Amino acid sequence: MKGIWGLIITGLSLVGALSTAATEILGSSLFPNERLQLTEGVLSKISVALQNVTISSMFDFGNDPTSRAVANNDASHRCKTIPGELLWPSDKVWNIFDTLLGECLIKTVPLAASCYVDWPEYNTTQCAAVAADWFNSDLHMEDPASIMLPLYQGRSCLPSPYNYTADCTQGGYPTYAANVSTVAQIQLAVNFARNLNLRLVVKNTGHDFNGKASGKDALTIWTHYLKDKEYYPEFKATNGYVGPAIKFGSGIQVFEAYEFAKSVGHSVVGGEAVTVGLGGGYTAGGGHSPLSSMYGLASDQVLAMQVILANGHFITASSTENPDIFWMLRGGGGSTIGVVTSLTVKALPKLETTTVTFNFTVKDTPGPDAFWSAVEAYLDNFETFVDAGTYGYYYIGASSVESGTDYAGSTDYYFRMESFVAPNMSVTETKTLLAPWFNALDNLNVSFTPWYNHADNFHDAWVEAFPQEYVGADVVKTASRLLPRSVFQSDDLRNQTFEAFKDAIIRGLFIAGFHISGTGIAVEPPTDSAVLPAWRDAITHVILGSEWNFTSSWDTIKSSSLFVTEWMDVLREIAPDSGAYMSEADLLEPNLQEAFYGTNYPRLYALKQKYDPTGLFFALTAVGAEDWEVQTVDPLPYSWNNNGRLCPKSS
Ligand SMILES: Cc1cc2nc3c(=O)[nH]c(=O)nc-3n(C[C@H](O)[C@H](O)[C@H](O)COP(=O)(O)OP(=O)(O)OC[C@H]3O[C@@H](n4cnc5c(N)ncnc54)[C@H](O)[C@@H]3O)c2cc1C
Ligand SMILES: *[C@@H]1O[C@H](CO)[C@@H](O)[C@H](O)[C@H]1NC(C)=O
Ligand SMILES: *[C@@H]1O[C@H](CO)[C@@H](O)[C@H](O)[C@H]1NC(C)=O
Ligand SMILES: *[C@@H]1O[C@H](CO)[C@@H](O)[C@H](O)[C@H]1NC(C)=O
Ligand SMILES: *[C@@H]1O[C@H](CO)[C@@H](O)[C@H](O)[C@H]1NC(C)=O
Ligand SMILES: *[C@@H]1O[C@H](CO)[C@@H](O)[C@H](O)[C@H]1NC(C)=O
Ligand SMILES: *[C@@H]1O[C@H](CO)[C@@H](O)[C@H](O)[C@H]1NC(C)=O
Ligand SMILES: *[C@@H]1O[C@H](CO)[C@@H](O)[C@H](O)[C@H]1NC(C)=O
Ligand SMILES: *[C@@H]1O[C@H](CO)[C@@H](O)[C@H](O)[C@H]1NC(C)=O
Ligand SMILES: *[C@@H]1O[C@H](CO)[C@@H](O)[C@H](O)[C@H]1NC(C)=O
Repeated sequence: MKGIWGLIITGLSLVGALSTAATEILGSSLFPNERLQLTEGVLSKISVALQNVTISSMFDFGNDPTSRAVANNDASHRCKTIPGELLWPSDKVWNIFDTLLGECLIKTVPLAASCYVDWPEYNTTQCAAVAADWFNSDLHMEDPASIMLPLYQGRSCLPSPYNYTADCTQGGYPTYAANVSTVAQIQLAVNFARNLNLRLVVKNTGHDFNGKASGKDALTIWTHYLKDKEYYPEFKATNGYVGPAIKFGSGIQVFEAYEFAKSVGHSVVGGEAVTVGLGGGYTAGGGHSPLSSMYGLASDQVLAMQVILANGHFITASSTENPDIFWMLRGGGGSTIGVVTSLTVKALPKLETTTVTFNFTVKDTPGPDAFWSAVEAYLDNFETFVDAGTYGYYYIGASSVESGTDYAGSTDYYFRMESFVAPNMSVTETKTLLAPWFNALDNLNVSFTPWYNHADNFHDAWVEAFPQEYVGADVVKTASRLLPRSVFQSDDLRNQTFEAFKDAIIRGLFIAGFHISGTGIAVEPPTDSAVLPAWRDAITHVILGSEWNFTSSWDTIKSSSLFVTEWMDVLREIAPDSGAYMSEADLLEPNLQEAFYGTNYPRLYALKQKYDPTGLFFALTAVGAEDWEVQTVDPLPYSWNNNGRLCPKSS
């Protein structure tokens, strides 16, 4: 790996010494890029080359949390260092860091900077391309700093006509990004950020609903290019599983995972969305899938993972090695105690699959009563559908959600079955399953035309039924609630749920919902992960949202957001012991820790203190986030977005 490490910077007397800096650690289960690790030996060579202890010690490892030396850790939380402060690294230090990284450090600029004349990037051609593609996730995932919901970076630099301001500032986008492709680079970045008390962000795709992969003045570790994959026809896992498995780099995205699984004659559990990162926040947060009613959550599939901890050390986590870390990183959320570099997951049968897509508006029915009865008939069938191993992803609203015209008072109700997914079922079997609901629609004189799509493997059915979704808008606020089976077994609670849905739409909110089981009919639910326990009883996940306009004031956003949070009390009361899915939820969720993590929270919090005592990893709503506040510069309360300094919470 001479190309990466053999850099010569004579001015800094870093003469060639780094050519052997990274050590190849052998181990058959590691990807080549995972064998390139930072070690104490490498650090001594760096120290000799730099001839400056102040600088070379910036790359030292932290203490081992299991050793007695832990008492020496400086566990006091301080405000993260920001540019302009004495302790902020000088350009010379950033340059050395870049050299050691093999020149993968990027000085980040907002993606839409090309639209603003006072930025060096100003370029009207480039700006037009960015604006044209703004709602396409490809644009944001290929950028080291951009996130898909710019509300959470402060909507400080958007292309016209989506802009809220007339100028462009860095906002909550990080200052630097390390475009990593090896374990050694991640270790360097983790050590550097921890030793210098910098704000650290891990960005994979930037899909997170609460903008967790952003942060003002931060250094970002960008995992997007950790793209390795390997198939093991007969993998023996430490938990007793013996069978086919696939190891994915954590930068692998859903579409890549599905394609690779198909190429080796299998399926894997992944999200419905094309570009969500399979190995990052998605699996860490639980991960729901069109295959979940059959096989459970994405985190249930994980057999082992490779992780760089906050102290900079690289470890393997499995049911026998570092089992507490293994437990935490399957359901405890992204950006908690380490950077995941890869995970090994179960490879499932290829499964013939049928999908069904259709929609109807109130105009396709005799009137609003028939429209709502048609929706109610769906809820009446949730249990049957889930118990058959199927999944449904639907929208209910008034007028068009995408164009931001979903206002209270509109009675242009619509229902859209984005996709009803029936794994292991033929079209005929799927029609039989749907008959009770479709007969009810016929009896109500609802006119609709289902599109049946079938393939002999999951990937080919999915790829037709799930087009890429819109991202990039700062005009939406969501909240989530999981509703357990018991709600649908009670006529009264099911009716209350239905009435609540109707009320939400009449008030101008929209629903993006799922019939889904977090357990899976084909498997025993695992009991040894940090997944929110409410997922195991849930048969529906409801995402509720409100919308506003691109030019809406922060006051409008605040009141609209609070309305979503408050409205959700209706569903919280229907299912008080349930919870919310952290990856598609509400930043303002009341009793957030309980709602997102349930009874696992005390253990998660204790592990956070053990493995990340200085609070290196932070993300809005993540484990331990309540000890911090983002001192937002926007006219919002602290921690409503990432556009502010990160400091310990003031009492
Ligand atoms: C259009 C769309 C569709 C979606 N569909 C689904 C779906 O079908 N099912 C579902 O369950 N969810 C879905 N989600 C939600 C998705 O699970 C979350 O957005 C998730 O956080 C995405 O993870 P990411 O790594 O791609 O994104 P990021 O925003 O890059 O990361 C999310 C969080 O994980 C952390 N993180 C990322 N990589 C690592 C790593 N290697 N190590 C440690 N921490 C890491 C980040 O720091 C951040 O805190 C969808 C979201 C969108 C926008
Ligand atoms: C080491 O580097 C620091 C930070 O750049 C600098 O202040 C210091 O003078 C250097 N020490 C020596 C001996 O060069
Ligand atoms: C402006 O952007 C376009 C498209 O990305 C590029 O082809 C062109 O070279 C850029 N112009 C300048 C002056 O950088
Ligand atoms: C958005 O940008 C356009 C073009 O630069 C500008 O004319 C407009 O005033 C901006 N909108 C707002 C709300 O500042
Ligand atoms: C990031 O690194 C990858 C190689 O791992 C490279 O292909 C890509 O162009 C880099 N991206 C940027 C923005 O530097
Ligand atoms: C509704 O379905 C029809 C086909 O039946 C399709 O043409 C149309 O685009 C769909 N509308 C929406 C909003 O999905
Ligand atoms: C798929 O269906 C067949 C019967 O049609 C059944 O034997 C098999 O177990 C099912 N597979 C799964 C994974 O449920
Ligand atoms: C449906 O249409 C038929 C024929 O027009 C009519 O007889 C029936 O009453 C209608 N049913 C409802 C529920 O509207
Ligand atoms: C459902 O609830 C509504 C409103 O509370 C009530 O009017 C209706 O009679 C209930 N329906 C059933 C079937 O219980
Ligand atoms: C958004 O704009 C529309 C049309 O101008 C207006 O009717 C609506 O009230 C606005 N909504 C908000 C939340 O500002």
